[in-house]
Amino acid sequence: MKAIVVVDRNWGIGKDNSLLVHLPGDLKYFREKTKGKVIVIGRQTLESFPGGKPLPERTNIVLTTNEDYPAACEVCCSKEHLFQCLEGYDPEDVFIAGGEQIYREFLPYCDTVYVTKIDAAFPADRYFADLDKDREWEPVFQSDPVTEKGLSYRFTEYKRVP
Ligand SMILES: NC(=O)c1ccc[n+]([C@@H]2O[C@H](COP(=O)([O-])OP(=O)(O)OC[C@H]3O[C@@H](n4cnc5c(N)ncnc54)[C@H](OP(=O)(O)O)[C@@H]3O)[C@@H](O)[C@H]2O)c1
Repeated sequence: MKAIVVVDRNWGIGKDNSLLVHLPGDLKYFREKTKGKVIVIGRQTLESFPGGKPLPERTNIVLTTNEDYPAACEVCCSKEHLFQCLEGYDPEDVFIAGGEQIYREFLPYCDTVYVTKIDAAFPADRYFADLDKDREWEPVFQSDPVTEKGLSYRFTEYKRVP
C-alpha cells in the first residue's frame, strides 16, 4: 500500500477538519495519482470533502466504527474488515489518504509515501509522522519547486528502507 499526503514545514496536515490550504496543482496531482485506484479515508476526512461525498473516478473506502454509517461508498468498521475489503485489490493500487488517525494506523503497512511538502508553516491540529526523523523511511524523489498562491511546494516520494 501507499500513502499520499500534503504537509507543511511542521508535517501539519489539517485544521478544523479542513486542509491547511487548497493548492489546485496539488489537488490535480492527487487526482492523477489516485484516479481509477482505491483511496482509504477516515470518516472525518470523508465529511471534509465537498458535500461530504466520496471523490469521483476512484473507489472510496471509508473507515468508521458506525456500522450504519450512511455513505455513498464502501464502509469498513475495523482494520480487519478493511483488510478483508482490500483482498480483491492490487496493493499497489491502494492509497491511504488520511486523515491523521488513518495515516497513523496504516502507515506501518505502506511501502511508499507521496508527500507534497509546502515550504510554509500553518496553524494545524492534525499531523503526519515526520518521515525525515524516521530511519525506516528515505526520500527517493523530490520535484523542482512549484509556486502557487504565493506558496512554494515540492512533490516528494519516500520509500521504506529495505
Ligand atoms: N493534508 C492531507 O493530505 C490530508 C489528507 C486527508 C485528511 N486531512 C485532514 O485530516 C483531518 C482529519 O483527520 P482526523 O484524524 O481528525 O480524522 P480521520 O482520520 O479522517 O477519521 C477518523 C475517523 O475514522 C474512523 N476510524 C479510524 N480508525 C478506525 C478503525 N480502525 N476502524 C473503524 N473506524 C476507524 C473513526 O470514525 P468514527 O468516529 O465514525 O468511528 C474516526 O473518528 C482533517 O483536517 C483533514 O482535512 C489532510
